[in-house]
Amino acid sequence: MADRVAIILAAGVSSRMNTQMAKVLHEVCGRPMLAYVLDACREVGVSKVYVVVGFAAAQVQERFGNGSDVVWVRQERQLGTAHAVLCCKEHLEDFECETLVLCGDGPLIRAETLRTLIEKHEGGQSAAILATAVLEDPTGYGRIVRDAYGNIQGIVEDSDCTKEQRAINEVNPSYYLFNNKVLFSALDRVRPDNVKGEYYLTDALSGIIATGHKVLAVTAVRPEEAMGVNSRAQLSAASKIMQRRVQQTLMENGVTIVDPDNTWIDARAQIGQDTVIEPFTYIHGEVEIGRSCRVGPFAYLREGTVLEDDVVLGVYTEVKNSTLSEGVRARHHSFIGDATVGRNVNVGAGSITANYDGRKVNRTQIGDNCYIGSGAVLIAPLELRAGSHVSAGTVVSQESIDKLGEKAESDVST
Ligand code: UD1
Ligand code: CA
Repeated sequence: MADRVAIILAAGVSSRMNTQMAKVLHEVCGRPMLAYVLDACREVGVSKVYVVVGFAAAQVQERFGNGSDVVWVRQERQLGTAHAVLCCKEHLEDFECETLVLCGDGPLIRAETLRTLIEKHEGGQSAAILATAVLEDPTGYGRIVRDAYGNIQGIVEDSDCTKEQRAINEVNPSYYLFNNKVLFSALDRVRPDNVKGEYYLTDALSGIIATGHKVLAVTAVRPEEAMGVNSRAQLSAASKIMQRRVQQTLMENGVTIVDPDNTWIDARAQIGQDTVIEPFTYIHGEVEIGRSCRVGPFAYLREGTVLEDDVVLGVYTEVKNSTLSEGVRARHHSFIGDATVGRNVNVGAGSITANYDGRKVNRTQIGDNCYIGSGAVLIAPLELRAGSHVSAGTVVSQESIDKLGEKAESDVST
């Protein structure tokens, strides 16, 4: 099998997003767009990924760190997608390999589609192969131009299309697989002869065809997977599609999502079998939920939440950076932040942990089988012994517990 590498283009300034941030760091269901593209490359077994960064490059590198399979390549001036690929020349030009070229702003990419490209490539003797998509509205995408026999002739960018070409609805989602040597020799010949005056990767492809090499275009990309994110509106549209995928996987794993349209679950969340997620629940961040839990309606789970099995969180309950052990009940209007809550603890309606003292965040530890009455305020840092009983409406601080002394320590009320 040929060695396979990938180049991901992520250097562009995103004027249409109107952002100071690198476009590929904008998040889709809690993860930066680039993370999904990297995942897809890894899933099809590339040995190295060359990520071309430029605008806000340091931000991107800092967020992703230095994976052993990632090589960061700088494109100092963003002169176009062909120029971006050319920045990898010193690393790759002498290689005999297959080179995938993908865009960092295409988070909906699926490894399955890349596999189709790889299979077709291995079967034929093509110099390049690209996966195309057929869209109802092709506006903004490069159009695939074919001859009368259906052979691909080239790609024309939206801004360079004639009226006839604009009507073509087969588009270029930017999923390419090249014979590496053919790619780099074609890139040298690309000129910025277009409306925008940029070096277009799509012209490299047209050049490869013009020099008599065999190039294949396979309609392998589903319309929903073709979307490149160039604007905030497209970011939210891509997020919606990704959210459907996240929920689909969870449902296949045995999670009940009562109303998928009114539920939002982070792509990093893990949820166990037979857990029920009620409507209007928002799960954000790396959250772990065990089996047979019931969450919501209107629950808000944030980064660092761990729910063990059989936990019930009800209406308007917010949990952050906390572990709730098996059997915990917090059915109404609670905030549990930076806490460790023991088994079978009952948190009454409206009870909260006061985890922030104005300067720092403090932890609360609640032992097994505690009963917290309604409307209690637990002022952190605080440790409640197992079996403690906190009366409704109590404000509990470590000091107040210490004053009660040993005798009354398990029956906290003021
Ligand atoms: C590109 C394709 C178009 C395709 C569409 C699919 C070209 C010329 N056009 O258009 O055919 O339909 O993607 O989404 O390739 N980038 C760099 N350096 C640069 C310029 C861009 O790294 O100098 C990166 C961008 O950060 C982005 C990607 O390349 O991740 C694509 O660039 P973008 O400007 O978004 O291209 P499109 O106009 O969407
Ligand atoms: Ca784009």
